[in-house]
Amino acid sequence: MTAPYRVFVTRVLPGNGFAELLEDPAFDLDVWPVDFPPTRDELLEHVVGVDALVCLITDTIDSAVLNAAGEQLKVVSQMAVGVDNVDVAACSARGIPVGNTPGVLTETTADMAWALILSSARRVVEAAEYVKDGEWKTWTPTQMAGVDVFGSTLGVVGFGAIGQAIARRAQGFGMRVLCWNRTPRPEEAAAVGAEQCGFDDVLSQSDFVCVSIALTDDTRQLIDARAFELMKPGAILVNTARGPIVDEAALVSALEAGQIGGAGLDVTAIEPLAMDSPLLTMRNVVVLPHIGSASLATRGKMADIAVANLRAGLAGEPLPHSVSLAVDG
Ligand code: DGY
Repeated sequence: MTAPYRVFVTRVLPGNGFAELLEDPAFDLDVWPVDFPPTRDELLEHVVGVDALVCLITDTIDSAVLNAAGEQLKVVSQMAVGVDNVDVAACSARGIPVGNTPGVLTETTADMAWALILSSARRVVEAAEYVKDGEWKTWTPTQMAGVDVFGSTLGVVGFGAIGQAIARRAQGFGMRVLCWNRTPRPEEAAAVGAEQCGFDDVLSQSDFVCVSIALTDDTRQLIDARAFELMKPGAILVNTARGPIVDEAALVSALEAGQIGGAGLDVTAIEPLAMDSPLLTMRNVVVLPHIGSASLATRGKMADIAVANLRAGLAGEPLPHSVSLAVDG
C-alpha cells in the first residue's frame, strides 16, 4: 500500500470536500487547529516533507517555504481567488502548480461592495451606533443625512468578474456606470450598461469609486495622492480588493483635508488594521475585517475548490483552477 499524501492545511476549512478529506485514508493531514495563522517559524516547520500545502491569504508562501517543504511538494492550493501572498513565479519555476478559487465568490463580494456603497453613503454604521449609544433623542430635518446613491455615478476600477458584478447591480439604482480596466473590456462593459473610460475619467467623474482589481506590482498604490486629487469632492472610495492597492497615508490625508467624502474599506494595507489607525477615528469611514466573500455558502464552495485543486495536483492532473505561470496555466 502506498503511503498517504502528507498535506499541511493552514486552517480548519469549511465545506464537504474538507470533511471528506479528513476521512480519506489516502491523506495524512496536518491541520493547523486555531484561528490565528501559523507564525513564520511554525509554517517553515510544518511544511517540511509535505506533498501539498493548502493555504490562506494570511500565509506568505515564498521560496523559503518551498525550500523548507522540499522537492516532493506537488501542489500549493490557496483558498482564495487572490494569490498575492504566494510567490507564483517561484512555484511555477519549480513546476509546482498553484490553485485558487475564482468564480464562486464573485456575487458575494459584489454584494459586499454594495453594502459598503450604501452604508457609506447613507451613514448606516454611524447611525446604528448613534442609536445604540442612546443619542437618538428626536427627529430633525438633517439628522444623519447622507448622500444619494440612486441616480449618481459609479466608477469601477478593474473590470474583471467582480467589477462587472458590482456594475450590474448599479442598473437597479439608476446609475451611470464608468469602468476602467488595464485591458479594455468593451463587450463586458456594454453587457452591464457601463461606459469604458480612461483611469483619470473614472476617478474624476464618479461619486463612488469601487476598487476591484488584483494586487500586482503594477497596481500597488494605484490609488495614490494624485488619484485622490482627481476625485470629486464628496466622492466615496470603496475597496473590496486588496488594501495595498490604495496608498493608505494618502487616503488618510485626503479624508482629513475633506478632499473626498468618505471610504468603505473591506481591506486595509496591513491586516488587521492597527487600532491606532486614524481611519478608525473618522465617522465617514467604514472598515470591515476582509469579509467580502464571507457568506457561509461561498466560503464552503471556496474550500471545496481548494480541495479539488489539491486532489488534482496530487494526482498529477491539471488543476480545476490554476494561476500557475509555467506549469499548466
Ligand atoms: C480572495 O478570495 O482573494 C478574498 O480576498 C478572500 O476571500
